[in-house]
Amino acid sequence: MPAGVLIRRIGPKDAGALNALAERDNHFDEDPATEPSGALTPDGARDFLADPSVLFWLAEAGGQVVGFLHCYVQRRRSSGPWAELLLMEMGTHADWRRRGIGRAMVAAMEVWMKESAVAEVWVPANTYAVGFYRKCGFVADEGAILVKELH
Ligand SMILES: CC(C)(COP(=O)(O)OP(=O)(O)OC[C@H]1O[C@@H](n2cnc3c(N)ncnc32)[C@H](O)[C@@H]1OP(=O)(O)O)[C@@H](O)C(=O)NCCC(=O)NCCS
Repeated sequence: MPAGVLIRRIGPKDAGALNALAERDNHFDEDPATEPSGALTPDGARDFLADPSVLFWLAEAGGQVVGFLHCYVQRRRSSGPWAELLLMEMGTHADWRRRGIGRAMVAAMEVWMKESAVAEVWVPANTYAVGFYRKCGFVADEGAILVKELH
């Protein structure tokens, strides 16, 4: 990873950083020409980060966010490990890719998993990112991920 890049898990006190990211997260997308997601209200951002099922890491360099990783803790209904993770979203700023930041954020998530006795993480991956996830040790599972949007 580039010198000076630090990865930290954020919480409710970091609502400002979460919202600042949401105003420029198109630079963390496959296509930076898309619109950014847009910020929550300050209270909404605090509530989001206070949710115990939300895990959120930032990679920062010189006070600038250069990467983020967001996943959910999903409790299991049956025996075995108490929960698994769903890796919802991650991105490295387009100017910082292919320098180990994505891999380092996945490693930070895996430290949390080991400390928390969570053994499995799922990702609904963009086609663009599949090679990256494979490099990080993910493998394809059976079946397909489907989505339905109500209008
Ligand atoms: C996917 C993404 C997060 C990877 O981040 P990154 O910081 O560039 O990744 P790293 O530099 O840590 O790469 C780790 C390894 O994966 C490889 N890799 C990175 N991106 C890759 C890609 N798109 N396809 C294939 N391999 C890739 C790297 O070459 C590296 O391999 P190496 O260790 O053998 O050199 C980044 O490309 C990104 O933000 N993409 C746009 C958003 C996106 O698609 N997010 C995923 C949503 S599901």
